[in-house]
Amino acid sequence: MANAIRFFELTTGAKIPSVGLGTWQSDPGLVGEAVATAVKVGYRHIDCAQIYGNEKEIGLVFKKLFEDGVVKREDLFITSKLWCTNHSPEDVPEALNRTLQDLQLDYIDLYLIHWPVRMKKGSIGFKPENLIPTDLPSTWKAMEALYDSGKARALGVSNFSTKKLKDLVEVARVPPAVNQVECHPCWQQSKLWEFCKAKGVHLSGYSPLGSPGTTWLKSDVLKHPVLVEVAEKLGKSPAQVAIRWGIQMGHSVLPKSTNEARIKENFDVFDWSIPDDLFAKFSEIQQARLIRGTTFAHETCGQYRSIEELWDGEI
Ligand code: A2P
Repeated sequence: MANAIRFFELTTGAKIPSVGLGTWQSDPGLVGEAVATAVKVGYRHIDCAQIYGNEKEIGLVFKKLFEDGVVKREDLFITSKLWCTNHSPEDVPEALNRTLQDLQLDYIDLYLIHWPVRMKKGSIGFKPENLIPTDLPSTWKAMEALYDSGKARALGVSNFSTKKLKDLVEVARVPPAVNQVECHPCWQQSKLWEFCKAKGVHLSGYSPLGSPGTTWLKSDVLKHPVLVEVAEKLGKSPAQVAIRWGIQMGHSVLPKSTNEARIKENFDVFDWSIPDDLFAKFSEIQQARLIRGTTFAHETCGQYRSIEELWDGEI
């Protein structure tokens, strides 16, 4: 089907499915069922992270899905992320081993540095005194060893500004295949996207719906007049329009849901498209970052004195 856009190709040659299930803030007790539903609906990309605290439950579901023959391991694309407390080179392989154990896998399709932020080993929570200076090149070297071992079939980063990604690309032996960042019609990441395209880095969008359920964000992405108008014209929901916008831009998108109807709705984006005249309207939308990472910047602790430094001015 001409409109399908089911996959994008990474520099490793692997195919990353264009719509993946997000699992951030998916409650324990609900996330397993959500993953099982998603796979049965046709999702082949599941986005996980150790810090989400739900990898064990997801692992139990993977095991059952494989045992029951619902899907084969090699047909799923599974991502996980290195948490900030595990940036020391010696802690990186241990962190992946724990994730693999929890997810009951022997390799991960994509392993990301979750934030360009480092915290003391073993520290819990987001207290400023947990923040310590980063050494991203040495963390990346340890990531490269995981790639060499075959336990991580592709490497990438998350929440990296254009500058931080550029600095990494300049020193990396194994280039980052993906930068996973907040991306939706109200935070389109135009500058970062231009850089990614030039360097062959795939951009994955988290919070593609603007995380409407996250009360501290005050997001109204799905209520934006352009999304509402385009949705009405196409007979789709604003969420479907936001997802379709992402994949038409060339990003993979990771909508989170634990609700069966919305999991289905969010995957029903392949047999229609946003026509050029309506697509052009998205460039008029005023831009604002929602996930600002304020807890990662502090005047006296860690690497970044301010969120301007964390994002290198891209706020
Ligand atoms: P729920 O899990 O109850 O479906 P994002 O992926 O941008 O972080 O957004 C996730 C939030 O959006 C969750 O609160 C999720 O709630 C909600 N959500 C997911 N799909 C839809 C949809 N199709 N329409 C409206 N809200 C949605």
